[in-house]
Amino acid sequence: MKIKACLFDLDGVIVDTAKFHFIAWKEMAAELGFDFSEDDNELLKGVSRMRSLEILLDIGKITRTDEEKLILAEQKNRRYLEFVYQMTDDEILPGVTRFLTDLRSNGMLIALGSASKNAPLILDRIHLKGQFDEIVDGNAVSKAKPDPEVFLRCASLLKVEPSVCLVFEDAQAGIEAALNGGMNVIGVGSSDNLSLADHYIPGFKKLDYELLSKWYN
Ligand code: BG6
Ligand code: MG
Repeated sequence: MKIKACLFDLDGVIVDTAKFHFIAWKEMAAELGFDFSEDDNELLKGVSRMRSLEILLDIGKITRTDEEKLILAEQKNRRYLEFVYQMTDDEILPGVTRFLTDLRSNGMLIALGSASKNAPLILDRIHLKGQFDEIVDGNAVSKAKPDPEVFLRCASLLKVEPSVCLVFEDAQAGIEAALNGGMNVIGVGSSDNLSLADHYIPGFKKLDYELLSKWYN
């Protein structure tokens, strides 16, 4: 198979943390005096913490200074972390652990490429850190998806060319980041909401090394 490395997004691919982000942002919006819907939350997928706050403030038509934004982002993160600290291995999405083990036993390199600054903490909570050869998170990159920086950094750490990397992403910005980096990409979710990926999977339950080999022979 032509793929030598699999690069995974975290939120929405390995774990369903979007629901925790949503509650924390919704509570903040309520405090600021407006409603924040699940549809609004879709706009924040794959987007950095500060950019998410700016989108939220735009929705509420609220202006804040840079200093105030830092305080609000910090406050949202504290609330989000209350959920993260309660996470267990049960939060790992179905099929993920088996798929990672299957890849590893077939000699595939594995990395995490996430916009989240909390990625190392989350991997610790769900006991998956050991499954990744490299971890590149929101602390290590300066350009947000769809910029390919996060995935190119994974490839460089793994010492492989982008053309042999396969990215798994649930956000459109992440799919575009993979393509902008010259990588292969599988969309996790439906082609109703995502476009441009090579293939779409609803989750990892039915995916294994053998099927990947057929798709990328
Ligand atoms: C992305 C999520 O993975 O990480 C976004 O999809 C989130 O919703 C972003 O805002 C940043 O996360 P964190 O944990 O650094 O606030
Ligand atoms: Mg994601």
